[in-house]
Amino acid sequence: MKVAVLPGDGIGPEVTHEAVRVIEALALGIELKHAPVGGAAYKAYGHPLPPETLEIARASDGVLFGAVGDPDCDSLDRHLRPEQAILGLRKELTLFANLRPAKVFKGLEDHSALRPEVASAIDLLIVRELNGDVYFGEKGFRTTPNGEREGYDIMSYATSEVRRIAHVAFRAAQGRGQRLCSVDKANVLETSQLWRDVVIEVAKEYPDVALSHMYVDNAAMQLVRNPGQFDVVVTGNLFGDILSDQASMCVGSIGMLASASLGERTTAHGTFGLYEPIHGSAPDIAGKGFANPMATILSAAMLLRHSLGQADAADRVEAAVGKALEDGVLGRDLGGSAGTTEIGDAVLERL
Ligand code: NAD
Ligand code: IPM
Ligand code: MN
Repeated sequence: MKVAVLPGDGIGPEVTHEAVRVIEALALGIELKHAPVGGAAYKAYGHPLPPETLEIARASDGVLFGAVGDPDCDSLDRHLRPEQAILGLRKELTLFANLRPAKVFKGLEDHSALRPEVASAIDLLIVRELNGDVYFGEKGFRTTPNGEREGYDIMSYATSEVRRIAHVAFRAAQGRGQRLCSVDKANVLETSQLWRDVVIEVAKEYPDVALSHMYVDNAAMQLVRNPGQFDVVVTGNLFGDILSDQASMCVGSIGMLASASLGERTTAHGTFGLYEPIHGSAPDIAGKGFANPMATILSAAMLLRHSLGQADAADRVEAAVGKALEDGVLGRDLGGSAGTTEIGDAVLERL
């Protein structure tokens, strides 16, 4: 079992370090290969995603990714910015299906931004499309006829792109509560109208799943009003990005939400994928030792489950995180005082 470890920038290396300790403690004989990515790679090699890093990722069974983003790099040409590394990996490796589960762990109910009785019902999965949408359309700057500078980004989805993510979402719903809510903005956007048409078409193959549709503005509202109503949510790249950060605060903290980015390639042990916390490099707290590593540890559990065929080990890691939370091991993001290493130690002890 080969895992590429790409720690990246800011708190990326701090949280990845704790997840690596967990993987090593399992003693499953997993071979770990570290590689530079993001602003760190730009500063050392002149590119946020050096070809060697992409090759190490490609040659692995799964990638454990920290976070990229560095304020020093925010005025570079866009193709050299740290964020292009994660976008490049998702695109180059055709990782189009981003699974972002949000569930309230026991003991976290009182730490959500929502009332405990509202928060405790949360157990949802956001299936976010990752290879298309306004993220990857033509973009640039141009001059309007009256001489004004204008920025533009083209939003589009092809039928095949929507179809493949819809299948992932319907299958996920079959394995959970058999309910799928497709989130779009079909009242305004043609991209969303096509999205909705294709999802309805694909639904015919899944009569056991109850499909509903919701506009994204309403979905943002419903997510805080009554998040317990959602089972699986499928949506495009941009809406999924925003709704998943929002879901994290409904659960308690962005430091808790893990993700898996999957495609169609299989390996000897499962599906090839990239695993990362949904948060970024958090420059405001980088180097201070109190980033919450749980999202990254839970991402490592998803890696064990989906790419390495190690479901038992994944269960153990998730249970150890759950137990630590139940025992009151909370980072500052959750109103506690445990630091990054302390949280890692607490999970390891319970493992
Ligand atoms: P962010 O997710 O990095 O941080 C948002 C807020 O949440 C900050 O206050 C931060 O301190 C806090 N936070 C995030 N993770 C935390 C953790 N594990 N524990 C405790 N607190 C945590 O988002 P941002 O500030 O908008 O972006 C910072 C940089 O990260 C930008 O360069 C952005 O492009 C990048 N980014 C990268 C990824 C990724 O690598 N996949 C994801 C999101 C943002
Ligand atoms: C995420 C991030 C990325 C995204 C950025 C850093 C490109 O916000 O993984 O959620 O927008 O997908
Ligand atoms: Mn995001």
